[in-house]
Order: sequence, then C-alpha cells, then structure tokens
Amino acid sequence: MSVTTTLDRTGSETTAVERTATALVPVAGVASCLPVVGSDTLVPLVDGRTVPYANLDCAASAPALCAVADRVTEVLPLYASVHRGAGYLSQVSTALYEASRRAIGSFVGARSDDVTVVTRNTTDSLNLLAGCIPDGPDGAPGRVLVLDVEHHANLLPWQRSAGGATVLVGETSVAGTLAALRAELAAAPYALVAVTGASNVTGESLPVADVVAAVHAAGARVVLDGAQLVPHRRFSLSETGVDYIAFSGHKTYAPFGSGVLAGRRDWLDAGVPYLAGGGAVRHVGVGDVVWTDAPARHEAGSPNVVGAVALAAACDALAALPEGVLAGHEAALRTRLVNGLSTVPGVQIVTAWADAVDPVGVVTFSVVGHDPGLVAAYLSAEHGIGVRDGRFCAHPLLARLGYDAGAVRASVGVGTTLDEVDRLVTALHAYVSTGPVARYEIVDGCWAVVDDPRPLPTGSGLTGLVGTAAAAFGAGGPACGPAPA
Ligand SMILES: Cc1ncc(COP(=O)(O)O)c(C=O)c1O
Repeated sequence: MSVTTTLDRTGSETTAVERTATALVPVAGVASCLPVVGSDTLVPLVDGRTVPYANLDCAASAPALCAVADRVTEVLPLYASVHRGAGYLSQVSTALYEASRRAIGSFVGARSDDVTVVTRNTTDSLNLLAGCIPDGPDGAPGRVLVLDVEHHANLLPWQRSAGGATVLVGETSVAGTLAALRAELAAAPYALVAVTGASNVTGESLPVADVVAAVHAAGARVVLDGAQLVPHRRFSLSETGVDYIAFSGHKTYAPFGSGVLAGRRDWLDAGVPYLAGGGAVRHVGVGDVVWTDAPARHEAGSPNVVGAVALAAACDALAALPEGVLAGHEAALRTRLVNGLSTVPGVQIVTAWADAVDPVGVVTFSVVGHDPGLVAAYLSAEHGIGVRDGRFCAHPLLARLGYDAGAVRASVGVGTTLDEVDRLVTALHAYVSTGPVARYEIVDGCWAVVDDPRPLPTGSGLTGLVGTAAAAFGAGGPACGPAPA
C-alpha cells in the first residue's frame, strides 16, 4: 500500500491512491478508484496525433471493470447449458448463475422475500414491472404516477401499462416537486410511483426517504429507476423501503447484456410472465400451461449466465470499496467539472432543481449559440474526449428546461480521473476562444469531420486502429494498464 502526494496542474497538493488487493482507493478523485479495462486506450485525432481516450460518457455505458473482465475470463471455460443440463459443467453454470443472482440482490439490499430477476437492461426491467401492476381494490387496472424528469425508459412503459400513467410536471425545486407529488397522491389513487434514483441529465434526485414516505402513506409502491444511481452510490431496498429497483449491467461496469429488476415478490409472482417460453413454466399441455413463480416466471428462454456473472463481479467490486470512497471520488470529479465549466465563457449548466443535494457525476451543459452536436464532434476529433449530445432520452425534461435543441453531457465513473475532467475544460476553452480547427458537416443528421482520416472497423478486423481492444487483449487476456500512481 502506498500514498503519494503530488502537485496537480493548478499547483494544488493532491494525494493519490492507496493500493489494496481489490481496489485503488482514491483520496480526492485524482485517480481512478477501481481499475477499468481500456483506461490506457489511445485514440486518433484528426491531426494525426494519438491521445489517451478520455471517456466522459460513462452514464451511457461504462467500461468494464478489470475485476469483471477477469471473472468472465475465469468462468468462460466452465460455461455450459444452464438449468436443465445434467452435465457437470451445466451444474456449475447453474450454480454460478444462481449465486450471481444472490450476489446482485444482496448488493442492492434485497429483503429476504424479494425477488431478483435478471433482465437485459433497465428498460427491460421497467417494461417487465409495467406488466405486473395489479388491479386496484375497485377492480380498475392500477395506475402509475411518474414525473416528467424521467428517462423515456421510466416513462413510456407506464403509459403502455393496463392502467396507464399520469405524468406530473416537476417544479423548479425539490421541495416544490415533493409537494406536487404529495398533492397528486392525495387527489387520485395510484398503484405505483416511478421515480429516478438519479437523473441521467442532471445527476440530481429527489430524497428517497421523502418519496417512499409519501408514496407508502398513500398506499402505493415505489419503483426506483436505478440506472444512474446504482453505479454511483450505495443503495439498499431494505434500508430505504423502496419496493423495486431497476438497473443495467452496462452502466454498472459489466457490459455483458444483463440488467436487473429486484423487489417485492407478490406482484412478480402474480404478474403476466414477461416472455412466454421454456423455463418459465411448471407444466405445458396442448391447451394449457402452468406458469412457475418469479424469478423464473419472467426469465423464459436461455438466461444470460455470463451477463449475470459479470454483473455480480461488478457488484462485488463496488461493494468492496470502503464506505464513502465512491461518493467522494465522484464528488471531487463533479466539483472540478462544474467549477471548470463555469470558467468557460458561454457555458450554461443544466439543472432541474435548485435545491438538489448530492448529485451523481452526470453534468449536462450547453455552449450558448453552438450546436451541441458540433461541440461533441469537436471534443472527439480534436481532443480524444468522449461525451454525449442530444436530448438524452429525456425529451420532456429538456423541453421544459428550454433545451429543445439538446445539450452536451459529461459523465464520470470509477475509472475517471481529474486529468480527464481538466482536459474537457481546457478543450472547451479552446473551442470558445479559437473555434474548431477541422472542418465539420452534418451527415445523416449528425456532425462529422469532413474527410475524417480516423479509421473505423469495416469488418471483423481491427487493423489500423490505434490502442485497440486487440492490443489491450493481447496474449494474456484483458489488460488493465498500470495502476494509477
Ligand atoms: C436514468 C436512466 N434510466 C433508464 C435508462 C435506460 O437504460 P438501458 O438503456 O440500459 O435500458 C437510462 C439509460 O441511459 C438512464 O440513464
């Protein structure tokens, strides 16, 4: 274990990392707090140089943790058909799958009688739950209450559910929004309230305890869209009283196609099986079927064993971080990002609530008078920085906040460093002072470099790409680069 003190670019003293067996523990967000695959990947710029990729798009999809890649490599030789195979490796795969389910459930503090369903992603999980909402005491299909701040994945499934949804327009403060939520709950009966655990636009959230208290007092249940919460903060179903949580493996450093819905058993046991097919049944006759209970009830077809194992490994690695490290890492990065952005002329940071506390590391901004797509293309082509632009699948919120034309989003994760944040701020300063160097045009609705010299794969090969996965995954499996010092 070592602690290194250095001067950062601004001359401030920063303490680097303590290295433990499982985690690189940052003290001030200066270095990554868990090693991720590809942290040393080089990318080409339009001027012919190569630079390390600055991945500031973790909210969309986060890189795999090294622990995840190692675990997948370890279990692949043991992989065989799951659940119904008599072979020894089938039994091993089944045991791995079910152990992963338990580890994931435990990571989100599942109660002893909760169910953890392995899905494809958050969208899948919320669509699944939308089909399980029971009728109300009056026999009418249960309705859902949802705010307009939500990602479309936490908006559209409820509108298609049997009882439909009411979309409540958020207020400009957390306090005002909670008051509006309470008023609506008092005015009409709801079976379920669907709220974000952290906005994928602003990183902000409503206080979970207040939401749960208000919803439960009204006799309804709460589902938390945990897509941006679980990768960034500790969360527990049993401690918060939240009824259901949904999240995605690819945002939780396990990009192997799995997602999760965890929560109360009764609705999931009684709900219409999400997919009809093998594995979800006890018995099938020519004209009848007896469905099994959750979770298998909603996991018809061959389940994603490797995805579940990968996600469980990510959960274990995140859980092993000492208390407060993840939140502290992100707070340091977010503060540096927000402070840096506020020094760039013309940059406006998007917020939904003036009084939100403890936002996660997701920051959306606009460069006034500049197309967000052009800014994002420039950051990639001239600085090797990956961000996202657009309306982030949150059209109602962007419209209400006056960003119909979209914005730019920078988001950080466990592998992000202060240096990467500084590179973004420096690049934006260059953009607003001297403008892009390359020429850009709109192709198929997206900004692109005219005659972009940077290679992209045209087939299965990776020839010509710099710092590619091919290099990273050379002879010895996934390479995670040197530990930050
Ligand atoms: C808050 C939030 N909810 C839901 C989703 C949907 O996640 P997925 O695409 O993994 O289903 C996202 C994805 O960006 C998100 O940020």
